[in-house]
Amino acid sequence: MLNSPLQAPPPVASGPIGVFDSGIGGLSILKALRQRMPQEDFVYISDQGHAPYGERGDEYVRDRSQVLTEALVGFGAKAVVVACNTATAAAIHELRQHWPQLPVIGVEPALKPAALQTRTGHVAVMATRGTLNSPKFKRLLAQQDPGLDIRCQPCDGLADAIEHLDDSRIAHLCRQYLAQTGPWTEGSSAPDTLVLGCTHYPLVLRLWLSELPPHVKVLDTGAPVAEQTYRRLVQSGQLREPTCAGSPAPTGQVSWFTTGEVEHLERAIRHWLPEAAGPCKPLPKR
Ligand code: DGL
Repeated sequence: MLNSPLQAPPPVASGPIGVFDSGIGGLSILKALRQRMPQEDFVYISDQGHAPYGERGDEYVRDRSQVLTEALVGFGAKAVVVACNTATAAAIHELRQHWPQLPVIGVEPALKPAALQTRTGHVAVMATRGTLNSPKFKRLLAQQDPGLDIRCQPCDGLADAIEHLDDSRIAHLCRQYLAQTGPWTEGSSAPDTLVLGCTHYPLVLRLWLSELPPHVKVLDTGAPVAEQTYRRLVQSGQLREPTCAGSPAPTGQVSWFTTGEVEHLERAIRHWLPEAAGPCKPLPKR
């Protein structure tokens, strides 16, 4: 349960950007954030000790989101990116109410871009059960052209399989969920757009692509979320000056925390985002 609004310490341009997810899915968002703002420092919290979120209730996810945002604010975060569709759907409204001064940026399945780019009018959305059942997602769905066929597929177990780098389970579940939303062969009644509505799923983009015909577009939200975060920091005057104009390589640091096993997060970073690898620490208990 949320208490009365907390006053975040005044954020400063030199502070880091906070990022959290139930686990390693947020690495797909962090990668895009670092590409867009290479000069920024980040603090990443993986809530692996409480993952997966997608098959838990809203209240649980809201409580976890509150705890993690509070921890990020405690680390001096000048903005918080909720790098998790499930937590965004369950908690972003309350986080924004609770920290009115803090830019809180969320992620949501890319339905609007999918609606704009589909030619056949058939779209599939892969997401967690928590995201798909949320009122926030249902509102987003209701805003789309009713003539569109949007096939929403809950992908039970997939985030967990990716979390544990379980290649055979990942491949099995991706094929199963594609089969349930297809057939995907080219034709006017087949989906031509796949929305990855969980931040874990773009980590295995190569697998999705290898299972789909080449005309299918696969959409995720890393780049738009990074752009939105950039805009919010520009608006609030908190963007850090680039150290070297036009430098493509990130110069900012990432501090890593987990509520699960440190080795698990370190292994995942080496696997998915080796360029940002560094020592991980347990998230201090309050
Ligand atoms: N990565 C998260 C999302 O975007 C959640 C995965 C999970 O914990 O179930 O929804």
